[in-house]
Amino acid sequence: MHNDIERVLITEADIAAKCKELGSQLTKEYDGRFPLAVGVLKGALPFMSDVLRHIHTHLEMDFMDVSSYGNGMRSSGEVKIVKDLDTKVEGRDLLIVEDIIDSGLTLKYLVDLFKYRQANSIKIVTMLDKPTGRTSHIKADMMGFEVPNEFVVGYGLDYQESYRNLPYIGVLKPEIYGGDKA
Ligand code: PRP
Ligand code: MN
Ligand code: MG
Repeated sequence: MHNDIERVLITEADIAAKCKELGSQLTKEYDGRFPLAVGVLKGALPFMSDVLRHIHTHLEMDFMDVSSYGNGMRSSGEVKIVKDLDTKVEGRDLLIVEDIIDSGLTLKYLVDLFKYRQANSIKIVTMLDKPTGRTSHIKADMMGFEVPNEFVVGYGLDYQESYRNLPYIGVLKPEIYGGDKA
């Protein structure tokens, strides 16, 4: 285990099994269709890569880079588009792939944007859900694990851009972020 991690919440094996399970649900969901999977950079990268390998239908992938947290512990309250999609959304079946829903602000922004762009359908799959953080009314269609109100890192989730490469999801030692609760 990494020295900055207090405890592991979700192991590499748990993650792998969950990706397989979600992938087969999504295979059924999109059978015979050609969805556009939209990964939300940067956090969704490991999950996107793992879950899409278990979706056995034709699909297209694209990425959107939005940021609401910057380097802080909390959302700035404002979502910024860093990189937009290259693909036209109109009439498409979108599957938004996220690492975590916390306040819901990022996804609320994206869902509104894709509705405005006239997507045919919009579904959300997230690896983690932190329901205690919610301020925007948003719900995932599919999710991996619920996490408690603690600052979690790993498997795409960062603290000041570090720890995204950890293969598991863990809780950061309070001394690393100055003891403030997430
Ligand atoms: C994090 C995370 C989600 C979002 C969730 O991204 O990856 O995208 O925050 O929080 P919310 O529900 O309160 O909006 P962040 O903006 O930190 O960018 P990153 O993915 O590049 O780390
Ligand atoms: Mn993100
Ligand atoms: Mg972040």
